[in-house]
Amino acid sequence: MAFPQTRMRRLRSTASLRGLVRETELRAGQLVLPLFVDESPTRPGPARESIATLPGVERLSISALLEEAREIAALGIGGVMLFGIPAAKDAVGSGAWDEEGVIQTAVRALKQAEPELLVLTDVCLCEYTDHGHCGVLREDNTVDNDASVELLARVAVSHARAGADLVAPSDMMDGRVGAIRSELDSEGFVDTPILAYSAKFASAFYGPFREAAGSMPAFGDRRGYQMDPANGREAVREALLDVQEGADMVMVKPALAYGDVIGAVKRATRLPVAAYNVSGEYAMVKAAAAAGYLDERAAVLEILTSLRRAGADTIISYHSKDAAQWLAE
Ligand code: PBG
Repeated sequence: MAFPQTRMRRLRSTASLRGLVRETELRAGQLVLPLFVDESPTRPGPARESIATLPGVERLSISALLEEAREIAALGIGGVMLFGIPAAKDAVGSGAWDEEGVIQTAVRALKQAEPELLVLTDVCLCEYTDHGHCGVLREDNTVDNDASVELLARVAVSHARAGADLVAPSDMMDGRVGAIRSELDSEGFVDTPILAYSAKFASAFYGPFREAAGSMPAFGDRRGYQMDPANGREAVREALLDVQEGADMVMVKPALAYGDVIGAVKRATRLPVAAYNVSGEYAMVKAAAAAGYLDERAAVLEILTSLRRAGADTIISYHSKDAAQWLAE
């Protein structure tokens, strides 16, 4: 039956009717807040440094991180995703698996202070290598996949040993999920889940993050390992390979221009899917809101809800604290 018997507006006429038939729900518990932990502040006590390209986001010392964590836990946010900014870097990124490294220290402190708050760690080398690539280099300056995978597995184990609840490899090397799973298992961390950054695209939207984390590649770009934004089928293939290798959750990143990929990965894998609403996507909204071009609260809640509708179970977003506050009101 069509118009005039059918009138789509009938079920939109009141807030109660709209609530009754709403298809998608957004909860604070589905959100993950990325946090930057900076090793350099040497004085004890909280230290925070603002990031020019990410208004409202700060680089935190470990004690500032603990202050933040208290607030985040109180808001009912699902978890935090930690990124480390080490005091020193080298060619192989050895700070990434150092038991006394910035992330390992931060995770131990966090799990002691807020045991209920889920701690996810980003497993990658780019913040720890002096050249800024996500793996180690061969003599010709190309990234050596298999040598990098061994190091990444070591990084993941060091995070699990520190108490990370989930490890999330973001490097886009081939075979790293399988290698991480088997290293975790052989070290006794059989219950530590892997959230694989399965479809991570070589995106212009990571710019503010690289500024924040100091992880801009010193030469070249990441297109030799991150995906071509033109490819959707390949993203599904990447996700299915990660499932075979033992991923517990898969991720699509960035999020806003990739709703089709989120949906396709969800249907193909049947795993929980995370969408990473990345730094550039956050910065765009903040800039437009600051200029008075749009209503920040309405825009953010619309974006996050739309990612849920696209198929994301979990959303990693710098908006998480604001969103959790708005959802509670
Ligand atoms: C590390 C990593 C990056 C992001 C998350 N993990 C940067 C990159 O690949 O250059 C980007 C996150 C964001 O933009 O918010 N490999």
